[in-house]
Order: sequence, then structure tokens, then C-alpha cells
Amino acid sequence: MITDAKQHRGFAAVNACTLVLFGASGDLAQRMVVPAIFRLARRGLLSPEFRLIGYARSKMTDEEFRRRMRKAVLREAGAGDEGAWTDFAARLSYIPAEYDGYDLQGYAELARRFETLDGGTGAGVRRVFYLATPPALFGPIMKHLNDAKLAGHAYQSAKEGWARFILEKPFGRDRASAHALNTDIAHSFDEDDIYRIDHFLGKEIVQNPFALRFANGIFEPVWNRNYIDHVQITAAETLGMEGRGGYYETAGAMRDMVQNHLLQLCALVAIEPPAEWNARVVRDEKVKVLRSVRKINPGEVKRDAVRGQYVADSTSGESAPGYREEEKVAAGSLVETYAALKLHIDNQRWAGVPFTCARANVWRSTPQRSSSNSSPRRTRRG
Ligand SMILES: NC(=O)c1ccc[n+]([C@@H]2O[C@H](COP(=O)([O-])OP(=O)(O)OC[C@H]3O[C@@H](n4cnc5c(N)ncnc54)[C@H](OP(=O)(O)O)[C@@H]3O)[C@@H](O)[C@H]2O)c1
Repeated sequence: MITDAKQHRGFAAVNACTLVLFGASGDLAQRMVVPAIFRLARRGLLSPEFRLIGYARSKMTDEEFRRRMRKAVLREAGAGDEGAWTDFAARLSYIPAEYDGYDLQGYAELARRFETLDGGTGAGVRRVFYLATPPALFGPIMKHLNDAKLAGHAYQSAKEGWARFILEKPFGRDRASAHALNTDIAHSFDEDDIYRIDHFLGKEIVQNPFALRFANGIFEPVWNRNYIDHVQITAAETLGMEGRGGYYETAGAMRDMVQNHLLQLCALVAIEPPAEWNARVVRDEKVKVLRSVRKINPGEVKRDAVRGQYVADSTSGESAPGYREEEKVAAGSLVETYAALKLHIDNQRWAGVPFTCARANVWRSTPQRSSSNSSPRRTRRG
């Protein structure tokens, strides 16, 4: 896939392809995905034939979509030069359409766009589908793309090219729904074409323990039960709900952060040195760690798990609402905004060393005051 010698910090520009962004009118698309793609474009890491097609139900013309993305890009990626934006904007287009239901015209329109894009560059047959929609739509969207032969086994066998999927968390709501989604995917798609993304792992602070441990001869010999008493992994954010109350009511801190991001981080801290530095080997080593985590039996939940919810607080001299007073949150909500788990990793390296993974949405940041001065909110324990 890498063809161009143009390098940027170890990355190379890739072949022409088209990224279809489902949920393009949403928060993730505007705050993260499009600004990230713009940064790649600005560094010359996208093929000149790269195209991005936004897809969502909101009614917008191509031009309105570009205007909205311009605002988002300038806010998130920095102003950059106008030339880079103009060049990037010309690669964007938009399809306003339903994801599911009776009216599936959007998929027919997508097929037409791929045809017109093809023009010998390959941009129309090399496809990345980014699903930035609520997770309940992952299955239906993938099914419709497969039925329309725009992706999946039928597409792969008919064309030269590929169709890959990027799925963000949450992947299902529980074990049963995650299994069901995996089964549906396996039915029509190759596993190698599915990228289940945890963007948290791209953060520098998450990658640092790896470098600290494996690039420093002094740390690896003491990275074990003989020298470490316990490990605490805490993701504390100086944020209230900031308009995300509706989402949080369906997720809570445990599903939103602990079972995915913090367990990933726990696995990275506890991992054995991988034999090779490639994604598959590192993934396998992480799985070994997770398999060594002792199950928490029902009778031990109270001892090893804590849930809490922040309540209104004005001790810092400024009043901050409690979780139940936030927008789109039920008055009697029991959803947790704080969650902590004490885990035991039963292997030779970590036996007897508790790992605590905690997520806290208990502080509030305000524009007038730096977070270091802010006071912790009081938390209702559950
Ligand atoms: N935002 C983040 O920072 C973040 C981080 C990690 C993971 N995620 C995950 O990424 C996905 C997208 O997140 P997001 O924050 O961008 O979500 P979002 O803004 O709530 O939704 C994205 C788009 O999906 C469409 N949509 C929303 N609710 C829908 C519904 N009930 N039925 C059909 N379409 C609906 C809307 O577009 P139209 O109405 O125009 O179709 C919306 O603009 C979610 O699975 C989320 O859990 C988000």
C-alpha cells in the first residue's frame, strides 16, 4: 500500500483511496477525524487523488459541508495556510441520506460516486469506511454496503481493490452484543479488513510507558512484583458533561473508559516484551495479560469495584452542577461518573501486585482558572 518515498517522521504517503465518513455531521467526525485527515494532507501524506465523502442524514450541500468542516478544521488543527485548506476542501463532498430503513438511495449514490472517482487512479476501488455513528448503526451500514457490493466478500472477488472499515468504540454494549456484531462481520467481511480503533492508544502519554520501559535498561529489571508494590492507572478529567449527558446516560464511566481504554493501558503496562514490534504480536501479548486477570466473583464486587457520581459543589467558590443537574440526564440517574476496579494479574511477573484502574469525571475546569487550581467535586458513592 505504501508507494511514495515521501516520508514524514517514519510515515509514507499512501496510494489513492476514498474515505467514506458515516456520521459526518457528528462530533467525532468534526472534532477528530476530519482535522486528523487535514493534518495528513498538509504534510503531503495523502495521494493527490485521495477523496473524502461525508455521509449523514443532515441535509447539506457539498459546499455547506465544506464550510462546516473548514470551521472544525481551523478550530482543531490550527489555522494552517489557506492554500492547504483550499486544496483539501476540493477533495471533500457529501451525501445526505439515510443509513438504514426503506430509502437506501444513499448507497446507490455512493456507488455512482465511486464510479466517477475511478478514472484510472484507483481512488474509487480502494475504499475506507469510517463509522462515526452511534454503534447501533454499525451492523445495518455494513450490511447495506455488503448487499450493494460496495464492500465485503462480493466486492472483493469482483474487483481489484479493497474495502476496509474503521470502527470506534463502543463495540457492542456487553459481551453478547459484541459477539453478535463480530459474528455478523465475520459473515461478510475479512477480519483483516476490520480496524477496531481505540484512539486513546495513540496518545503520547499512553505510548510513553512503552518507551520508558523498553528503551531504558534501568527499568526492565525492576518492572515486576519484586520491586513494584501496586500500579495505579487513573484517567481524571477536568470536565463535567459538556453536553454529553445524553450519551453518558447510555454508557457511564465503566463502559466509556474503563473496559476499553484503561484495560488497554493496564495490558500495556503489564505486557511481556513482545518478540517482534508488530501489531499482531503486541496484540497477542496484550491478550495474554488480559487472560491472566483474575475474575471478580459476585461476592468480591463490593471489595474490588467502586462506582460514584459527582454531586453539586461550590466549595471552590464557584458553583458546579451535579451530574443529575446536567442537560439530558435523568433526575434520579444512577449512572456512574466515577468507576474504579482493582485487578489482580495472576502471572509470574505480577502475582500479588494490585492494579487499580480508575476513571474520574469529578473535577470541573473553567476558562477563568487553570485545572491545577480547581477543586475536586464531591462524589456520591455507589
Ligand atoms: N465524540 C467522541 O469523542 C468519540 C470518541 C470515541 C468514540 N466515539 C464513538 O464514535 C461514534 C460517533 O460519536 P459522535 O460523538 O460523533 O456521535 P454523535 O455526534 O452523537 O453522532 C454522529 C452522527 O450520527 C448521526 N446520529 C446520531 N444519533 C443518531 C440516531 N439515533 N440515529 C441515526 N443517526 C444518528 C448524526 O448524524 P445525522 O443525524 O446527520 O445522520 C450524528 O451527527 C459513537 O459510536 C461514539 O460512541 C466518539
